[in-house]
Amino acid sequence: MKKRIGILTSGGDCPGLNATIRGVAKAVYEKMGSDAEIIGIEDGYHGLIHGEYHKMKPSDFSGILTVGGTILGTSRTPYSKMQVVEEDNIDKVAAMKKNYKDMKLDCLLTLGGNGTHKTANLLSCEGLNIIGLPKTIDNDIYGTDVTFGFHTAVDTATDVIDKIHTTASSHRRVMLVEIMGNKAGWLTLYSAVAGGADIILIPEIPYEMDKIMGALDRRADKGRAFSIIAVAEGAMSSAEAKLKKKQRALLRAELGYKTATQQIADEIAKRSTYETRVVLSGHIVRGGSPSAYDRVLATQFGAYAAELIQKDIFGVSVAMVNNRITHNALKDIAGITKFVPVDHQMIGVAKSMGISFGD
Ligand code: F6P
Repeated sequence: MKKRIGILTSGGDCPGLNATIRGVAKAVYEKMGSDAEIIGIEDGYHGLIHGEYHKMKPSDFSGILTVGGTILGTSRTPYSKMQVVEEDNIDKVAAMKKNYKDMKLDCLLTLGGNGTHKTANLLSCEGLNIIGLPKTIDNDIYGTDVTFGFHTAVDTATDVIDKIHTTASSHRRVMLVEIMGNKAGWLTLYSAVAGGADIILIPEIPYEMDKIMGALDRRADKGRAFSIIAVAEGAMSSAEAKLKKKQRALLRAELGYKTATQQIADEIAKRSTYETRVVLSGHIVRGGSPSAYDRVLATQFGAYAAELIQKDIFGVSVAMVNNRITHNALKDIAGITKFVPVDHQMIGVAKSMGISFGD
């Protein structure tokens, strides 16, 4: 029986999106042959809202396993705005339902992070056949042990820390490396352990400047002339942690900071003679070819999604749980952030290595 499958990538890009798209397509064509028709929706939900899509051919999926980014394009269409009619007067949910119908889709695959999953769940509740696939360098989607893109980003961020090590050592400096992760600190935690950082600051464990200074001094006392501090984009002090998100952002803006990293560097310089430098790894960690781990994971996720399509299982998101590929109901996971538990084994391991979390 013919099946028309829509596919879109939404939110921040990451390595492994194309490998996942390819995994779905190859498995779908293998199972259904010419009965399968794949429609590529451009630039995430933007394309679904505005009817921007194209029919794809099997050759479109060749040669993309190793390619970073997404061949479909992506954009951020915040969930908070999905049910709001803005100046353009477009009822986005109605438009997405209409375009789904106009495209004669049997199902829609949404590759994305937490925001994407919230909208995917909304569309599923509206009666569309949705399968989510968990993408993000942040690894913060609830219900899956791992998201594709995370391990490649860990490799890249580790490489940044490795490279900073040599210059920090030569100049005897305290180098602060900021790593993406606004809400959850997974990426910073893993890359900092892999890169041998001395201090790790993540949003889940608010820091105290005194503790950071203590850790730096202890290293200096042992004759270590340099230190590496890995700072998650969303790291915050224990005083800031008491504030609401908006208040925190306002206070930071008043002081002239967007994230904590430069503020910590300035504070260290004020309180000591340590020379500091800040390095923002930024979007570099979202770029490049997926690692072997991510190519394998993406292929597994894609093939599993093809199986779900064949079995008409919708309203779900693909997941890895205890090393097995499975799926969760979208309604059970959408919008829940998977934070680093403060008693996570990796934190214990890092602490046993003498790494400080500034707490
Ligand atoms: O994909 C999630 C993420 O990497 C966050 O860690 C970061 O805060 C955000 O993307 C930045 O995204 P952009 O600048 O592309 O909007």
